[in-house]
Amino acid sequence: MSRALKIEAARAALEWVHDGMKLGIGTGSTADEFTRLLGKKVADGFQITGIPTSENTRMLCEELSIPLSTLDKTPRLDMVIDGADEVDRNLQLIKGGGGALLREKIVAHASDKMVVIADDSKQVETLGAFPLPLEVNPFGLAATRLAIEIVLANLGFGNATLELRGGTQNPFTTDGGHFILDANLGAIPDGAMLSRQVLDIPGVVEHGLFLGYATHVFLAGADGVRQLSRDG
Ligand code: 5RP
Repeated sequence: MSRALKIEAARAALEWVHDGMKLGIGTGSTADEFTRLLGKKVADGFQITGIPTSENTRMLCEELSIPLSTLDKTPRLDMVIDGADEVDRNLQLIKGGGGALLREKIVAHASDKMVVIADDSKQVETLGAFPLPLEVNPFGLAATRLAIEIVLANLGFGNATLELRGGTQNPFTTDGGHFILDANLGAIPDGAMLSRQVLDIPGVVEHGLFLGYATHVFLAGADGVRQLSRDG
């Protein structure tokens, strides 16, 4: 995805941000472009309260002097603007390529609207070509991994493989101190069923399927920015 397209999608979303909003601020390279544009507006006197979805985003916001709060002080937000790894026609998403899925989902759940910004290569017919991130507690990793493999096999993902992000020597650790198993599934025909079954495993903290969260999507492509909305 070219940087120019990320900026176009971010610019479209910025138009939806109003003075005084309580705003969730996403994670990833597209969300970073949004944050930089927001920083310029704030420097010009625009007032928002930002709730970052990761430590990386918090640091970028601080560099840009964007006023921040937390969900503890500000538990309900007007909107979150965030990127995605895949988007389908029903505005279902795979997120977590940047490893921030847990905080991103908590912030999205606390927001009245979730606006996704991406380039049109992220739009897919069926979710699942992008490996699905599964955030797991490091305790009992092998047992959790085995339980996930059994669930996946029972759901018909016979060829699925799980990869510990970062590798066993130096696993990637999330802001919550967890690991990520990336599940190569190929296609996910029933995300709701998969969601229920993996969340039933005690060691699974969260997964990167965002079902029913996104209300609007801005997709930037060669012909401009297209808007998709859940209400049509
Ligand atoms: C981070 C995410 C990101 O939003 C997602 O990975 C997209 O990132 P990018 O804009 O860099 O393609 O879910 O956890």
